[in-house]
Amino acid sequence: MNILIVGGGGREHALAWKIAQSTLCTKLYAAPGNPGIAAHAECVDVLVKAPFRELIEWCRAKAIDLVVVGPERPLSEGIADALIAGGLRVFGPTASAARIESSKSFAKELMQEAGIPTAEARVFTDPDEAHAYVEKHGAPLVVKATGLAEGKGVVVARTNAEAVAAIDSMMRAKAFGEAGAEVLIEEFLVGEEASLLAFADGSVVRAMDSAQDHKPVFDGDEGPNTGGMGAYSPAPVVTPEMYERCVREVLEPCLATLRKRGIDYRGVIYAGLMITKAGPKVVEFNCRFGDPEIQALIPRLENDIVEVMLACIDGRLGEIALKWRDAAVCVVVASGGYPGTYAKGKVIEGLDAVPKNHDVIVFHAGTKSDGGKIVTNGGRVLGVTVKDEYLSVAIERAYQIIKKIKFEGMHYRTDIGRKALDRVKK
Ligand code: AMP
Ligand code: GLY
Repeated sequence: MNILIVGGGGREHALAWKIAQSTLCTKLYAAPGNPGIAAHAECVDVLVKAPFRELIEWCRAKAIDLVVVGPERPLSEGIADALIAGGLRVFGPTASAARIESSKSFAKELMQEAGIPTAEARVFTDPDEAHAYVEKHGAPLVVKATGLAEGKGVVVARTNAEAVAAIDSMMRAKAFGEAGAEVLIEEFLVGEEASLLAFADGSVVRAMDSAQDHKPVFDGDEGPNTGGMGAYSPAPVVTPEMYERCVREVLEPCLATLRKRGIDYRGVIYAGLMITKAGPKVVEFNCRFGDPEIQALIPRLENDIVEVMLACIDGRLGEIALKWRDAAVCVVVASGGYPGTYAKGKVIEGLDAVPKNHDVIVFHAGTKSDGGKIVTNGGRVLGVTVKDEYLSVAIERAYQIIKKIKFEGMHYRTDIGRKALDRVKK
C-alpha cells in the first residue's frame, strides 16, 4: 500500500516509525514530515488546507491507498470528509466526530447525555455572567476556552481573581481568538491524571494500554501547562479494575452516544482522565493520538498498526486484539522559553551519539534540516523514548541518552515517570 501521514511532529514520527514496519506498507509519505520522519518516509510539500483539493489531487497522482491524519486541526476542518468524498481511505474522524475535541461544549453535552462521569460545568458566552458564576461558586475552578487552543486554553484558577482574569483574557482580550468566545467553567477535580486512548470503528472500541502525560513545564508539576513534557506507559494509577471501569463508563458510552446522534466515529478516541477517589472522570476528549503519549505507547504495540487502522475504517475492529509488551517512557526535550516564546534554529548536537537500537528512539517533534545540520523548529523539539521490561530501567536510560544531546536553551523535566515508580514502591 502507498500510505500518506499528515503532520510533522513527534506524534507523526512515532506513526511513521511504526507504519514503516508494516508488511502492508510499500511506500510511505509524510506531509510535511520532519527530519526524523525522513528516515522512514518521503517528506512532501503538498498543501494540507481546507478544502483539501490539492491534497486529493496529489493522493490520486501518487495512488495513495491510505491517509493517516495526525493532528486535530485538519480533522476539525474536515480533512477526513473531503478525502472520503474524493474516494480515498482515511484513518481519522470526520469533522462532526472531531467535535469531541474541537468543541468542549459539544463534548460536555455528549458526556452529560451519555452519563459519562466528568466535572460539573457550565458554558458562558457572556463574560459578566461568567464573572457572576465565579463569585457565586468560588475558586478553585477551571476556566476553559471551548474551541481549539493548542492545549493552552485551560486555566486552573486557585483564586476568584485568577478565574476572573482568565475569563477576561479569553473572552475580552481574545487571547485564543474565536476559540475563547465561549468559555466553560468547571469544577476542580482532585486526583491523578491518566490518558486512555482507544481505536474506534464506528461501533466497536478497543482501548489501548494506559499512559500518563506530564503537562506542567517544570518538575513536580510546577509552572504553566504545555502540550506535554513526557509520558510513560502503562500507568499504574490505572489498575486493571480502573481500566475496566474506564472502558465501560467512558469509552463505550462515548462511542454509543455518538452513534445514537448519527456520528460514525472511526479513528482514535483519546480520553484524558482524572482518577479520583470516586472513580474515573473525563477531563477532555481528543480526536487523535495524544502526543507525547503515543511516543510511549507505539513502541509497546505488537500489532501491525496498518492492520488495526484498516479494521477501524472497514468496521472490523471486533476481529482485532491489541497486544502490548514491556514499558516505555518518553522524555520531551524543549526549547528555552517554551511554553512561552522561544527561539528557533538552534543547532542540535549529539544525535549521532544515541545508540542505534530498536528499544531507543529519539522522535523528532520540532526540528528541521538546515545546511546539513538538524536545528530546532518548535517548542517541543525531541522525544527521547526508551522501552524496557522495567519502567525504572527505561527511565534511567532515557536520562543517560538526553545527556548526549545539546542545543542552546534546551530544557526537560527530570522527573518523568516518578509517580509510577512511587506508586509501585508503595
Ligand atoms: P484540558 O486541555 O482540558 O486537558 O486541560 C489541561 C489540563 O488542565 C489538564 O490536563 C488538567 O491538568 C487540568 N484540568 C483541566 N480540567 C480540570 C478539572 N476539571 N480539574 C482539575 N484539573 C483540570
Ligand atoms: N498529550 C496531550 C495531548 O495530546 O493533547
